[in-house]
Amino acid sequence: MTQSAIYSRVVGTGSYLPARRVTNQQLADELATRGIETSDEWIVARTGIQARHFAAPDQTSSDMAVEAAKRALDMAGLSADQIDLIMVATSTPDFVFPSTACLVQNKLGITNGCAAFDIQAVCSGFAYAMATADNFIRSGAYRNVLVIGAETFSRILDFNDRTTCVLFGDGAGAVVLQASSEPGILSSALHADGSHSNILCVPGNVSGGAVQGEAFLYMDGQAVFKLAVKVLEKVAHEALEKAGLEASAIDWLIPHQANLRIMTSTARKLGAEAKMVVTVDQHGNTSAASIPLALDVAVRDGRIKAGQNVMIEGVGGGFTWGAVLFRM
Ligand code: ACO
Repeated sequence: MTQSAIYSRVVGTGSYLPARRVTNQQLADELATRGIETSDEWIVARTGIQARHFAAPDQTSSDMAVEAAKRALDMAGLSADQIDLIMVATSTPDFVFPSTACLVQNKLGITNGCAAFDIQAVCSGFAYAMATADNFIRSGAYRNVLVIGAETFSRILDFNDRTTCVLFGDGAGAVVLQASSEPGILSSALHADGSHSNILCVPGNVSGGAVQGEAFLYMDGQAVFKLAVKVLEKVAHEALEKAGLEASAIDWLIPHQANLRIMTSTARKLGAEAKMVVTVDQHGNTSAASIPLALDVAVRDGRIKAGQNVMIEGVGGGFTWGAVLFRM
């Protein structure tokens, strides 16, 4: 007897941004009080960023993840207890352990004992999490999976380093993936090259009761830029090839929202510039949260419609990169 294929379908999306919105001018004014010079013009010209949101001092990645998850569950028409697996992609977890996913499970009031774990692939984290969830669903192991990207990058920014502190923001996005006989996720491709671990990192750890090394983000911006542009086009084509589709089949391209110049360069090569969802202007780079945040914005404003093909692609510290192609 032949078994019909199982696919993973996005049945709900949700997102959350902390209340405090900081424009480039507000950030520049704040940095000026420390003697650090930057400007709205510089930030917009180099990155496309106009504003970002910062979490309140007592607000954590799990707090924001829960808000995004509630909205995704609501759209999916599911109660939290129907979830079989929670995955949180984050590089800014609440604690060393337990995982942010376990905290989210508890805060959502889930008592069904569902599996929960974090994924650490920095800005590629959401692509990694979607691909992982897809494999769990297609294997028949789980039916309803909550996939979340949540970050409080403001906590690891050195506000004395103007080359990085203007780039990042906080927020969370979530999707509910559900087993279905209809596609669904069509393909995915994930990669990493640990030999570039030093160009984008927070090279610190907790040991002996104190932080050892550096607890702030370090980035060699130009090295990241060059690598990102190179790998993103390649991985997008790999995912298309696996699905047996041409680039023209992409209805919406949702790149990791790091920098408008990187995003546009990749989109242009794919002939998908007009199909690109852009939120980096208003959110800044929210790392693993950026793709689900952008996805939710474009689903809720009616741009992304049922039956359309969406390509998400991310690149981040590690170095890691990946793409996932799915039909809504
Ligand atoms: N305001 C004003 N001037 C600045 C600022 C700032 N915030 N930051 C740097 N500068 C100055 C530099 O000091 C330098 O001055 P100098 O010429 O007098 O030495 C000048 O601007 C140019 O600096 P560059 O580093 O050469 O600027 P570049 O054009 O490379 O832009 C940027 C920097 C925006 C970081 C760029 O390299 C970039 O986008 N890289 C990719 C970053 C990225 O996408 N990271 C995230 C991907 S992975 C992840 O999301 C974690």
